[in-house]
Order: sequence, then structure tokens, then C-alpha cells
Amino acid sequence: MSQPLLDVQKLTLIDSNTNHVLVHHCSFQLEKGKILAIIGESGSGKSITCKALLGLNDHNIQMSGQARFNEVSLLEQSEAQLRHIRGNDIAMIMQQGGTAFNPSFTLGHQMRTILKHHDIKDKKTQHTLIKSYFDMLGLHDFERIMRAYPHELSGGMLQRLMIVMALALKPELIIADEPTTALDVITQYEVLKEFQHIKETIGCAMIFISHDLAVVKHIADEVLVMKNGDVIEYGPVAEVLDRPKHAYTQYLVNARSQLTTYFQKVRGDTSCSS
Ligand SMILES: Nc1ncnc2c1ncn2[C@@H]1O[C@H](COP(=O)(O)OP(=O)(O)O)[C@@H](O)[C@H]1O
Ligand SMILES: [Mg+2]
Repeated sequence: MSQPLLDVQKLTLIDSNTNHVLVHHCSFQLEKGKILAIIGESGSGKSITCKALLGLNDHNIQMSGQARFNEVSLLEQSEAQLRHIRGNDIAMIMQQGGTAFNPSFTLGHQMRTILKHHDIKDKKTQHTLIKSYFDMLGLHDFERIMRAYPHELSGGMLQRLMIVMALALKPELIIADEPTTALDVITQYEVLKEFQHIKETIGCAMIFISHDLAVVKHIADEVLVMKNGDVIEYGPVAEVLDRPKHAYTQYLVNARSQLTTYFQKVRGDTSCSS
């Protein structure tokens, strides 16, 4: 295997207030351009694992183990270095769309700021570029949305705008934490197609947190299953989901997916059945 883009070894997260181990010895690798899905029921440690990589957890959460991104040791970076990494190399699309945006600035201002950081300073060029991302995602109302403040837009729209921001960043890695939860089923299907599109357009790797197995089957190369902070299973998506070794994975696979029926309908096949 070539040098992975991201190499996480025995990442362990402890709540220093209670000494509870929240995540125990989580290990995985991600190669350039690949998609890893992290699945597991609510509270299993998916979000804090990903946030740990970017230094986004609360201060009471202590980290040990290793996480190397392009040979940079993420757990040893200062806040300023992490901010740089978040602004350039790793974009996070969060569970709650709104929290990624600053409530005091218009969306247009926030998008232009990102481009400025990427040395695209000319207003006209910024405008054309952002508009092209809107077009790519089939988003209308460009002028209105650029003038809007985050609270004026729906959760689903904000999630799509996070995807626009991710595109503007052109990161090597996008971490998407349940990116479709705020969306209705039809929009979820569209957003999934968009994720595939982004991957193809900018060739980035992705960590995709989801509890929807139909989605995971559709999009991921590898899957990591978490339960109560432990990694239960990890491997190629077909292997883990078609021949689960662990009873818990089997349980997740059997649980009826919200999207399954929908996918079968729109695709006219049964390849997403769970
Ligand atoms: N700041 C925090 N302090 C203490 N415990 C936390 C904190 N954030 C999350 N947890 C706990 O860590 C566990 C994993 O949370 P999380 O990663 O958000 O789960 P999920 O798999 O649903 O994303 C949960 O038990 C949660 O209560
Ligand atoms: Mg979560």
C-alpha cells in the first residue's frame, strides 16, 4: 500500500472530568481519493473521533495515540496550525449546518473570505467562481443567498452551502458528519450525488459519517463500525456489509434503512437492499 493520506493509530479519547473512555484504540488508514464511512449508533464516538483529528473537541476530552495526515502529526499541532489545516487541507461538513457559519456575517462574506485565504482576491473572480459552484450543485437564488445571514436559510440549504465552501477550499480531505440528516429523502439522494461529484471534481478523500447503510454502500470504499467507543469491524465496504463478522454489524445491516426503498424505486434495482 502506498503511503496513506491519513493514518490513525490507537486514537483514544478520555473525558477528563469523569475519566470515562469515550473512544478506545481507534485505528484506520485512508488513501488519497478514497472514501471511508464510519457507522455506528448514536453516541458510539463517530463525531468526537473526527473532531479530534481537527482539534475541535471540548478541552475536557484528552487525546492519546497517533494521527498522521501527510506526515503531519495532527494531535501535536498548535491551535494556529490546526486552523491553518482546517482552512487549507481538511474541510469538515458538520452535523448541524448552522454551526459551521458565523452568525454575524452574510454567506457571501464568508465564502469570499475563504477564497481570499486562497489568494483569490479579485471580487469578480470570486463571484464567478462561487457562482460556478452554485451551478454545479444546482443551487438557484445566488444573489439572495449571498446576501443572507445563516439564520435566514434552512438547515438543508446551509448543509449544501457547506459543500460549496468545501469545494472552494479544495481540500485533500473532506470530513462529512452525517451530512444528509437535515435533508428530506429526495434531497438526500441529490446531495449524495453531489458528494460523488465533488470527489470526482477535486479528487479529494472523504470520511463520511452516516448511520444509513444504503448511503454507505452507495458511496464508500471502506467502512469502520463503532460501538461504545470501540472499533468493532473495519474493511472494504462489500466485505463488511455483505459478510459482517460481528453481530452488531449484522444488526446494523438488518436494520431497515430509511433510504433503501427510495433507492430501489429511483434506480429500479435491488442493489441497495439491506
Ligand atoms: N464534550 C464532551 N464531554 C464529555 N463527553 C462527551 C463530549 N462530547 C461527546 N461526549 C460523549 O462521547 C460519546 C460519543 O459522542 P459522539 O462522538 O458525539 O457520538 P456519535 O457516534 O453519535 O457521533 C457520547 O457518549 C457523548 O455523550
Ligand atoms: Mg455524531
